[in-house]
Order: sequence, then structure tokens, then C-alpha cells
Amino acid sequence: MKKVAVLTSGGDAPGMNAAIRAVVRKGIYEGLKIIGVKRGYAGLIEGDFEPLERRSVADIIHRGGTFLRSARSEEFRSKEGRRKAVEQLKYIGADGLVIIGGDGSFKGAQLLGEESDIKTVGIPGTIDNDIACTDYSIGYDTALNTILDAMNKIRDTATSHERTFVIEAMGRHSGFLTLMSGLAGGAESILIPEFDFDLDQVCQKLEAGYERGKLHSIILVAEGIGDNFQTSRDLNESKAFALGEEISKRIGLETRVTVLGHLQRGGTPTAQDRLLATRLGAAAVDVLLTGETNKMVGVIHDQIEVAEIEEAIESQKDVDEGLYELADILSL
Ligand code: F6P
Repeated sequence: MKKVAVLTSGGDAPGMNAAIRAVVRKGIYEGLKIIGVKRGYAGLIEGDFEPLERRSVADIIHRGGTFLRSARSEEFRSKEGRRKAVEQLKYIGADGLVIIGGDGSFKGAQLLGEESDIKTVGIPGTIDNDIACTDYSIGYDTALNTILDAMNKIRDTATSHERTFVIEAMGRHSGFLTLMSGLAGGAESILIPEFDFDLDQVCQKLEAGYERGKLHSIILVAEGIGDNFQTSRDLNESKAFALGEEISKRIGLETRVTVLGHLQRGGTPTAQDRLLATRLGAAAVDVLLTGETNKMVGVIHDQIEVAEIEEAIESQKDVDEGLYELADILSL
């Protein structure tokens, strides 16, 4: 192993910069040349490269986003797109590739690893924390804290006006982030794609709470509640609005809706995300130095673990039903 390329792909996540920094500095320490790939797989196909030195990654450990930038590439999904990417890597003499991203990015990495002799290793980076074979992915802790901050602020207003708020958190396919935010933020109801819910029961719980003297209620909804709640409204619009409207209609409560959206993805990474990113970045270099391929590095019970990338893609990371029930019990 002599030359390693590194890229960030899919949704940006706070801590990606810290991971790139660790890959670059640990790689150079081990005698490797490190090449940054701009704009994820899209930049890889186009050969949008930048050699990275120790100084190239100075002053980024505390920054959100990714200085290499990111993209979701349609072309890379095709064999022809991946062939072009391999050609670009060969052209610059790279024999290893570090991919920092979510499960979609890992799928691309696996195919590239299978179709070529480029050694690949994935680092989990997504606020959704929906990647198997690791307890945490980079960016999740920061996003969780961002959501809690927003909930605290909204709670002030909700209490002052005795209102019900529907807050929507990110997570198209996974309710992990929403469940943990709801549990840590004391939401009255948590609605996520993994579990069915009955809106009548949600309404009854709200009413019972107000009867007991509650001054406000927060319903935290995952972006992807999907088929759990059918609405005839514009499908491009967040379902949280229809949900707020329906609650108002059914039990006459004054509701307001806040969709947190992309403000959950940015911001300075927390200490936990920086530490995780730093450890995983260095571990990814170690994996490549062993000559192994199609691996992912993760952290389980605070220990670095290496898994097959295929296992991470094919396994489902389940949300903890016990925590879902606990959140319900504590909010009664
Ligand atoms: O996967 C991260 C994530 O932020 C999801 O929670 C969200 O559904 C999606 O990305 C949004 O993607 P985009 O920024 O491309 O709209």
C-alpha cells in the first residue's frame, strides 16, 4: 500500500473533517501518500483530486460539513461509472480508498472493491446512526445535541403559550435519531417508522396530559414516518404538517409545527464525534495497511471493531424497542 485516496459521500455529517484529518495524518505517519477526492463518487469519476499534506488538514477538526465536499452520485451506481472511477484511481497510482459516508456510500464501496483490486475501507458517517456493525456513526451525537437544543427552545414557547408542538427530525428510513432525541428531550410522543402508532391514542395521551396540568406537549416525529400516517395533502410536503392539522381537528388543540430540516446536519462537531472520527480515521488506515479490503471500521462497547462492509450493508440496525417503551412510560 503506497497511495490512498479518501472521500466523503452522501449527506454531510459533523466530524467528517476530523475523520479526514486523522486519515491524512495517520497515513502520512505510516509512510503513505494521501489524495483527497472532491465531491464524493462524482468527483472520483471525474478525477477531481487534491494531494493532501499534514498542513492541508490544519484547522478543520472543529468544523462541520466536509472540506472535501460531498455528493450523491447516480453515475456511480452503474458499472460503467465505477469503471471510470477505478480508471481514475489507477491513473494516479492509488491502491487504497477510504470512504466516509452512510449505507448508500458503503454499497458503492463494496461494488468497487469487488470489481477491482483497489482496497476499500468504510468509515460510518451519517447523522441517522442507522449503520450496522457500529454503535455510533460520525455526526449522530452532534445532530442529537442540535435537536435537543431546538427542543429546549421550542419547549419555552410551548409552555408560555400552552401549545402542542409537532417537531420533525431527520431520518428518512430510520427513527434512531428521533427516538434518542425524544427520550433525552422528554417528548410526550415519539413517532418513528419502525413502530406503528394510533393517532387516537396519541390524542388521548395529549388530552390526559393537559388534564393532569401539563402546560405543553411535544410530539417528535421522524421525517420518514411513511405509511404510518396517510395524508391526502401534497406528498412533497412534510407529513408533520398534516399530523399537526389532524390533531387540532380531532381534539381542538392549538398546534404548531417545526420541521428542523438541514440545520440538523451542520454545526461544530461535539467532543464525542471528534473523538469517534479521529479513532475511526486512524483505524481505517491500519486496516488498509494489513492489505485487507471491503472492510468497515466501527466502535462497539467503545472498542474499535473491523467488520465486512457487506455485513454492515446487509444487517439491519434495529432501534431498541425497550427504549421506545421507556420513553412512553416516562412521558405519561
Ligand atoms: O442520511 C442523512 C440524511 O440527513 C437523512 O436523515 C435525510 O433523510 C437525508 O439525508 C436528506 O438528504 P438530502 O440532504 O440529500 O436532502
